[in-house]
Amino acid sequence: MKKLLCLFLVLFCFVSPFVGATQPSQWKVPAIYVFGDSTVDVGNNNYLTRSRAKANFPHYGIDFPHSRPTGRFSNGYNAIDFIASHMGFRRSPPPYLFLNDTNNHQIVKGLRGVNFASAGSGILDSTGTNIITTTQQVLYFEALRSKMVAQSNADQVALRLSKSLFLISSGGNDAFAFATANKSPNNTAILLFYNTVISKYENHIKTLYGLGARYFAVINVPSIGCVPSARAKNPTGGCIDSMNQLAKGLNDAVAALFLKLSVTLPGLEYSIGNSYEFLSTVISKPRLYGGFEEVKSACCGGGKFNAESSCTPNATYCMKRSRYVFWDNTHPSQATSKLAGALFYDGPAQFVGPITFKQLVKSAY
Ligand SMILES: *[C@@H]1O[C@H](CO)[C@@H](O)[C@H](O)[C@H]1NC(C)=O
Ligand SMILES: *[C@@H]1O[C@H](CO)[C@@H](O)[C@H](O)[C@H]1NC(C)=O
Ligand SMILES: *[C@@H]1O[C@H](CO)[C@@H](O)[C@H](O)[C@H]1NC(C)=O
Repeated sequence: MKKLLCLFLVLFCFVSPFVGATQPSQWKVPAIYVFGDSTVDVGNNNYLTRSRAKANFPHYGIDFPHSRPTGRFSNGYNAIDFIASHMGFRRSPPPYLFLNDTNNHQIVKGLRGVNFASAGSGILDSTGTNIITTTQQVLYFEALRSKMVAQSNADQVALRLSKSLFLISSGGNDAFAFATANKSPNNTAILLFYNTVISKYENHIKTLYGLGARYFAVINVPSIGCVPSARAKNPTGGCIDSMNQLAKGLNDAVAALFLKLSVTLPGLEYSIGNSYEFLSTVISKPRLYGGFEEVKSACCGGGKFNAESSCTPNATYCMKRSRYVFWDNTHPSQATSKLAGALFYDGPAQFVGPITFKQLVKSAY
């Protein structure tokens, strides 16, 4: 009897609405759609011939299966891989530009998802050159959705998308660009920057919502004043406080935006992974959080803090990579991303809120 009931439930819940496209039971959502920058890029930039923001050569990927450089800005996996694995997937969904070559059937059925992220991009269209802007990432999603609708029907696609997770990790490059262009900005200029980014962020979310997205997992801007490339520019070797303040203010505005959107757009739910608080805490209490030994220098690179030259094939790299917070001069190590993924998925309110990523995907059922 129990067996029959199980069989019935499996058929009923998973075979419809897409005949022949069943969601494996370990997946907590049908699909994950990823937008953002190098913190979650898994290889889109490999396909941009003119892009300089690439990580598809050694020593990137040295700890990835088969030591393969994939385009991830990490010695191994990055945060989206760990978040996806907590949701029952093997790793991040594949990069969009790779898929365009292969026309993957599972993905056109609304399963597994796609990663649109592009290193160097920001919320603003003006951030980054020879990258995929967030506006373009959203347009790619729209094109994919049209393909999905053409192969089934709009109601079925809407149902599947409404249960899928939309993850966004962006804003850091906008802050970097602003800080680089404005050495000592006054409050008016900073507020104008926040307003410009937030207004664009709101457009992106409203467009995605209009296309059927309901569940948003957001990763905010880390304490960018503490990355090795920032420290290397500070004569004291400390974090650059003004950059951290800029990131913090932007994060506050993003949190206010999502609160507002969750009230005004019916069915929208969200969770914000607090990358700022996470990185600051790991750097101040490295032994307690992750057992790290090196919080200032990059593992791979050259010069002061291994941050003055890039992690190129001729650069040196450290042996105890899981003891370094940073892999290269701006990006976390695989060990750091693994801890971030675990804390955003199911950690305390200090690191994720107003609900956890786990609670967010639970409400997607
Ligand atoms: C995807 O493939 C189609 C058809 O070959 C092509 O028209 C389009 O430009 C491609 N898109 C990207 C982003 O490469
Ligand atoms: C603030 O900075 C902007 C741009 O640098 C400048 O145009 C503006 O006059 C400044 N405002 C004040 C109140 O100093
Ligand atoms: C590594 O190679 C790049 C060019 O590929 C060069 O610009 C850089 O100076 C080299 N770095 C070292 C440490 O030799």
